[in-house]
Amino acid sequence: MIAIGCDHGGYELKLEIMKYLEEKGLEYRDFGCDSTASVDYPVYGKAVAGAVASGECEKGILICGTGIGMSIVANKVPRIRCALCSDCFSAQATREHNDTNVIALGARVTGPGLAIKIVDTWLNTPFSNDERHIRRIGMIEE
Ligand code: RB5
Repeated sequence: MIAIGCDHGGYELKLEIMKYLEEKGLEYRDFGCDSTASVDYPVYGKAVAGAVASGECEKGILICGTGIGMSIVANKVPRIRCALCSDCFSAQATREHNDTNVIALGARVTGPGLAIKIVDTWLNTPFSNDERHIRRIGMIEE
C-alpha cells in the first residue's frame, strides 16, 4: 500500500500520479488534500509519513509546490527517510543508497511527465543492501 498526500500546490500533480498508480494496478491510500484550496502542508506530510512509519503503508509520496516543505516535515518523523527528487538519477540513487521510504515532489518545479517517470523509477528501484549503505542508514538513527 502506498500513502499519497499533497497540499493545494501539489493537488493537480497528485491526481496525475494517482492515475499512474491506478494504471499500474498499485494500491494507494489518499491522505488528502482534496482540492486546490489553500491548506497547510504539515498536516498532510505528517499523515503520510505517520502511515509509513507505523507500517500501515510501505511507501509514501508527498507533493507540494516545491516539495521542500513536505520533505522537511516527513524527515522529522522517526523511521522516515524522505528524498526530494526532481530527476530520475536521484530517484534511483536514493532508493539504492538511502532506502528512502517517502519521496517528495515539487509540482511547481517538475512537470507531470517527468514527475511520473521519477515516481516510476523510485517505486521500481530496490535498496542495494550493500553493507556500507546499511551501516550509513543505521548511523542516521543513532
Ligand atoms: C504553498 O504555497 C507552498 O508554500 C507549499 O506548496 C510548499 O512549496 C512548501 O514548501
